[in-house]
This record gives sequence, C-alpha cells and structure tokens, in this order.
Amino acid sequence: MPTFELYSKDPEEPVWQVPATGAARFNWEYDDGRDRLLALYQKGKDKQWDGQKRIDWELEVDPYDPLGTPDEAMSLYGTRHWAKLTERDKGELRRHYASWQFSQFLHGEQGAMICAARIVESVPDLDAKFYSATQTMDEARHAEIYGRFLHEKIGLLYPINDNLQALLGDTLRDSRWDMPYLGMQVLIEGLALAAFGMIRDTTDKPLPKQILAYVMQDEARHVAFGRMALRDYYKQLTDAELREREEFVIEGCYLMRDRLRGVEVLENFGIPKAEAEACSEQSEFLALFRKLLFSRIVPCVKDIGLWGKRLQQAYVDMGVLEMGDSDLDLLMSEDEEIAEKLDAERFAVEERERVAEVRGAIEAGQRIDG
Ligand SMILES: [Fe+2]
Ligand SMILES: [Fe+2]
Repeated sequence: MPTFELYSKDPEEPVWQVPATGAARFNWEYDDGRDRLLALYQKGKDKQWDGQKRIDWELEVDPYDPLGTPDEAMSLYGTRHWAKLTERDKGELRRHYASWQFSQFLHGEQGAMICAARIVESVPDLDAKFYSATQTMDEARHAEIYGRFLHEKIGLLYPINDNLQALLGDTLRDSRWDMPYLGMQVLIEGLALAAFGMIRDTTDKPLPKQILAYVMQDEARHVAFGRMALRDYYKQLTDAELREREEFVIEGCYLMRDRLRGVEVLENFGIPKAEAEACSEQSEFLALFRKLLFSRIVPCVKDIGLWGKRLQQAYVDMGVLEMGDSDLDLLMSEDEEIAEKLDAERFAVEERERVAEVRGAIEAGQRIDG
C-alpha cells in the first residue's frame, strides 16, 4: 500500500530536496589504507545479511501494543488525561507512539543511508570511502526493514519530526566533509542506538526484538567507523575549529533532547501543544529515557577529542557528564553478542522442532508398519 495512505498527517512534499555543497573527492592512492579501517571494511562485507530472510516476519504483532509498553512508560500516565482514557484509547495511543518512534527510526535510517553515501563522495581517504560504501548498504537494509514493519505490522506512519529534519538538513548542507560524520554518525546514530537498545532490552515482543538486535549488530560497526575517522582527523584541527564542532554538538544535543519527544502524537489526540510538552516533561519515565538517550553520544564525543569546557558544562547541565566514562567498546561487543545469541537461540528452537517432527514421522511410520 502506498505510504502516503498510511501517514497520520500528510508530509506535504513527496520529495525533500537538500541542496548539496562541498566537493566530491577522488583519491588515486589505492594501497594506503589504515589497517583498522580496512579490517572494519572486511567485517562490513562479511556481516551483510538479508532482512527478508533473517527476520521471522511470520511472527504476529498486536498493532495496539506492538512493543509491550507498560502504562508508566506512556507520557500521559498519571495526568488528568490518563484517567479519561478507555482501554481502547490506550491501545490506540500505544499504536501511535510505536508508529511515531519507528517512523523516526525509518526516516533516520534513510538519512543515515544518504549521509553514508555523502561520505563516500566527499571523504578524502579511500579506506573510508570503501567502508562507507558498506554502511550505505547496511542503512538501506535497515530502512527496508523498518518500512516493512510499519507497513505490515502497524499500518500507520508518522512524517519526520521537524527538528530531526532540521538537524539532518544542517548536517547535509555543510560543506565540511566531517560534518555528516558528526551530525549523523555521532549525534543521530548515537541517539538512535541508545533508543534501539532501550527497546531491545525491555520489549517482550519477539519481532521488534529481532529487528532491533540485528540492526544494532550493524550499528556497532558504524559507530566504530565514525570514531576512527574523526579521532584521526580532529587531532589535526586547530582549537578554533574544534570549538566550532563542539558548538554544533551542544546545539544538536539540546535540540534532540527537548524537541524529539513525540508531542505530535499527543497533539493528534487533541491535547494542545503546550500541555503535551508539559506532560512529557513531567513524566518520570521519560525523564530517565531522555537521560539514557545520551549513553552512546557522550562517551563518543569524548573519545574523538571534543571535550572542551563548554561541552562539558552542557553535559553537566543535562545531567549526563558521567556517561563520558562508559566503555563504548564493551557496549558494542555486547551489541554483537546479543544478536549472535538471539540467532543461536532461534536456531536451537528450530532444530528441536525439526527433530521432534522427524521423530513424530518415524513413530507414525512404525505404527503403520506394526
Ligand atoms: Fe542503520
Ligand atoms: Fe548506522
């Protein structure tokens, strides 16, 4: 079914055009790659998978509770509006929230694909171009999977959030080649990864769990790529150039924290914008969620060498400074292990079912013989 028939609100323009600036760069040195980056490129090629096959699309999803979201996690919980909701309304609200969230994931994945392609075009080093080409393919697969989930299992999509769109636009309009890395790989992907992880680790629904675990297995490589490339490059920049990047990060972090809250959903339910904002501000669960959203960004910016006073102060203000000490390598190897473990468990179940089937067939055969 055309997506335009499933949007909660008409996105108006069917195509969004962002005028590109900056150079496309060719590199004639083909034998000069950094070992770690080339190893990551090899891994990117080895670990390709097909969402049509690896994900069990037969699994049913209740569109009115796609993620098994507890009441306390809803921003209206505990407000005067909550008491007025019927069970049916609550189901509808859950459907809209899941749709809003996964729609942002979907649009973000398309953005990631376009930024990765942009990096292929503009980054000067060939090893980074090679790697980013595999990432472009990863992101295409992710967008395909989230799109299928929304179309087939939820039947409702939301347009891109205005502020996410603004950040994507700023990232793409900038002519400096490191900005798609910083805006996309570090900020948007960092936020997305944290959000994916929170849902992956809390949902009791098998289909979204599979999707998130497998997507995160790829995202672990993407973050590693951004870190490697930017760590090398930022060592060569002047203080003034680094401060410019830090300002971009500070602004982007505030914007995403304060403006990416699903207020659109509540507005859709007839709650005025200011009140909808107040509801999500007061929700204890959402306050924790917002804080945890930074668990991947803060250690990453510290690692790439953006750790000036103003940035640290902003993180103190957001209450997330101490997250700078978390171990990104450990988080990422866990992301890979979780996906592999899930595969192993699913494989073991399938194997048991197959053995039981064979045994049943043998027994049936013996009964006929006897
Ligand atoms: Fe992705
Ligand atoms: Fe990614």
